[in-house]
This record gives sequence, structure tokens and C-alpha cells, in this order.
Amino acid sequence: MTEKTVTITNNVDGTSHEYPLHEGTIGPPAVDISALYRDAGFFTYDPGFMATASCHSAITYIDGEHGVLLYRGYPIEQLATKASFLEVAYLLLYGELPNERELVSFERVITQHTMLNENLKNFLDGFHYDAHPMAILCGVVGSLSAFYHESIDVNDPHYREISAHRLIAKVPTIAAAAYKHNIGEPIMYPRNDLRYGANFLYMMFATPCEDYEPGLLAEKALNLLFILHADHEQNASTSTVRLAGSSGANPFACVAAGIASLWGPAHGGANEAVLDMLTQIGDVSSVPKFIDKAKDKDDPFRLMGFGHRVYKNYDPRAKIIREVCHQVLEEMPGADNPLFELALELEEIALHDEYFVERKLYPNVDFYSGIIYSALGIPRNMFTVMFAVARTVGWVSHWTEMMSDPGNRIGRPRQIYCGPEPRDYVPISKR
Ligand code: CMC
Repeated sequence: MTEKTVTITNNVDGTSHEYPLHEGTIGPPAVDISALYRDAGFFTYDPGFMATASCHSAITYIDGEHGVLLYRGYPIEQLATKASFLEVAYLLLYGELPNERELVSFERVITQHTMLNENLKNFLDGFHYDAHPMAILCGVVGSLSAFYHESIDVNDPHYREISAHRLIAKVPTIAAAAYKHNIGEPIMYPRNDLRYGANFLYMMFATPCEDYEPGLLAEKALNLLFILHADHEQNASTSTVRLAGSSGANPFACVAAGIASLWGPAHGGANEAVLDMLTQIGDVSSVPKFIDKAKDKDDPFRLMGFGHRVYKNYDPRAKIIREVCHQVLEEMPGADNPLFELALELEEIALHDEYFVERKLYPNVDFYSGIIYSALGIPRNMFTVMFAVARTVGWVSHWTEMMSDPGNRIGRPRQIYCGPEPRDYVPISKR
């Protein structure tokens, strides 16, 4: 915090009040208006939190104008090409890159937590065979709170750490189990001799009667996608986890709330929606028709995978994925090249269209991620689940940061009430 202040003047009654300006390490400062209502008797109104910082955080930094994304200060481009996912998970959770000993120990701890309580399978069995895997993930992760509730003291750093480890370790097992349930195959238990991404692919694609050796390219691509999706500061799902957790709620229930928020097509559900959209467009010749639909205010159609609340430039994650798409599609047998070619064409046209240029609408991370997931053999209804597996690391890091902050208070926004004025109850016979 600095000594700088901002004066807010009420032009109606002429009163003025001074408010402190909070400055972070980088990025725009924020006026602390927490005393505004007490001083001036009015609230601030900011639907969608377009100009509101909800917390102090040292985890992730985004500069949307310049397309910059840093995890704990490290550029995403460096982490994506040089680090493993668990290395990045350690960085997000603890604030520093692990040394060799710390990484080995972290990998061991996460690996030891990958199994699920056998009784949890009963929850899976309760879902209809064609339930969407996101619905299963949300329900089953929430049900973890029933297994780890009495033992958790959210005010104790030790229990917070164990909860974070359990979530990072068990969400992939639940995600793969949701897929197996969906296709009617038996659940595969995790293999502790495999690395995080390889184990996930194994749980997805092995069966009790046929083993599966994950290829190196598939593992590398998954590692990269997980890193790119691991955190993105105060997005809708992370803010949901924080808000739910601010009341002291069980962390497993809070992460289930985050999964619910992620599911929407404006957020993590966009990766599934992008492939549906590309399939619907079908052919390069139809691209102009769909661009017109996206521009038509009377048409609810939007170009999925385009636009971002914060990035008003090319999403740096999309740039990285775009490159990897080329490599994966060249090397993976059965990859969906025509859809990638269609995506490139759509991007090219949109990037030169006045509507998209004016509004600074660029491809976001989800424009390409589904194409890689498809190439890895992961079905569309699992795309958002994959996002959730990676983002769990971000959610638990933010939850831990918030719970460790002595200044943490329950999140409680106010409103502008627009309902009826006080009135008297009318007996039913007189209505
Ligand atoms: N296609 C067509 N028009 C768009 C699009 C789009 N994808 N995105 C925004 N616009 C227009 C919008 O109609 C509005 O135009 P106008 O000013 O004339 O009314 C203007 O651009 C600003 O849009 P907004 O909805 O006010 O922007 P927002 O910051 O509230 O929404 C967004 C951001 C990501 C929800 C939105 O761009 C969108 O719906 N994109 C498609 C869904 C998508 O790809 N989501 C994934 C986001 S990245 C992954 C993640 O973080 O979860």
C-alpha cells in the first residue's frame, strides 16, 4: 500500500472523502472504497466486476492489453516449454519453483493421494450412463467433502495443505472415472509408476483386459495444455471458489462450486462449444455466413473461442497452443486436420473483420485446445473436464492464499434494490 489517496466527491451534496490507493507490484492500482458506504451512504455498482479488484493476490498476473500472462512472475511461454505440470503446480501453490528434492517429494505426495475411497464409487454408480462428465465431476468432487469433513480444520495450514494435495491428486482420478462411467467401461485405478499426465491418459484409455502405454507426444501435449490452463487470476470459477471459501466452507465443496462455474460456455465450456461450432460451420465456404451471424445483434450466435474479458490482444496461451496444434496434427495419426484448417481460416477472416478488430476480439485459449484434445482421442464432452483438472491447481492455490490471509472476510456484495416498495399483505380472498 502507498500513501497515495483518491478523493471522491459527491456532486449532489458537495461532500468529499479520501480513499487509499492500493498499488501492486505491477498493473493498475485500485482505490480502496471499503469505507465509502459508511462515509458517503452509497454503494458502487460494477456488474460483471469490470473495474473491481476483489482481493490482493501474488499468484498470477495478466496484462490484457499486451497479452502477458505470468505465474508467480514467470512468463507462461517459459513455463509452457520448460516445466512439468507438477512443477508449475508447486510454483502456484507455494510461490517458488521447487528444487530437485522438493519436486521429487511433491510428486511423491501427490502420487500417494491419487486413489479414491472405494465408497466414492457408489456416487458414480448413481449417475445415469449418459450423464455429462462435468455433472459427474461436480457431484463427485463435492461428495469428497463427505469423506474429508470432520478431519479438516480450514484454519490450520497443515490441513489446508493436505486438502490441496488431495484435490490435485484425486480430481484426475475422478475425471477419468467420469469418462469410464460415460462409456460403460470399468474404472481404472491410478498407476503410481507413471507421471501425472501419463497416469491420466492411462486411466482414460487402459482397460482391465488391455494395457495402454501413453505416447510421449500425447503426454507432452497434455502437460502443456494443463500448464496453460492451471491458473488465470480472478476468473469466474476462481472467484466462485474464493467466495464459497470465504465463509469457511469445506474446500472440496468450494472446488465443486468452481467446477459448476467453469462449465458455462462463456468460461471453460467454450472449448467444447468451439468444436461444436466448427462442426456446424462444416466447410470454409460457410465461414462468411457464420461471421455475419456472430456480428448480428439479433442473433445469439457468438464466435466461440473468440474474445476475452481481460485480453484485448492475442491470448498468449492461444499463441502457444496454435503452434503445438501444428506439431500434434502432423505427428498424431487420426488427428482432425480439416477442423484445424477450418479454425485457421475462421481466425484469419475474423482477425481482419472490422467488427472483431474494433472490439479487440482475438482467439482465446479455448479456440485451439479442443483440436489438440481431439487429436489425443479425448471426446468433446470431456474437454471442460480437462480444463477443470488443470484449473484445480489454481483453485486450491487461491483458496490457500485467501485462507492464509488474516484479513480474509466473508464475501458479501450489496445490490441496488429495484423491487416493490413496502406494502401490506393482502388476504388471498382479496387478491
Ligand atoms: N463473438 C461475437 N461477438 C462478441 C464475442 C464473440 N465471441 N465476444 C464478444 N463479442 C462482442 C459483444 O457482442 C460486444 O459487442 P457490443 O459492444 O457491440 O455490444 C463486445 O464484443 C464486448 O463483449 P462482452 O460480452 O461485453 O465482453 P465480456 O468481457 O463480457 O465477455 C467473453 C467476454 C469471453 C464472455 C465473450 O467474449 C464471449 O462470450 N466469448 C465466447 C466464449 C468464449 O470463447 N469463452 C472462453 C473465454 S477464455 C477461457 C476462459 O477463461 O474460460
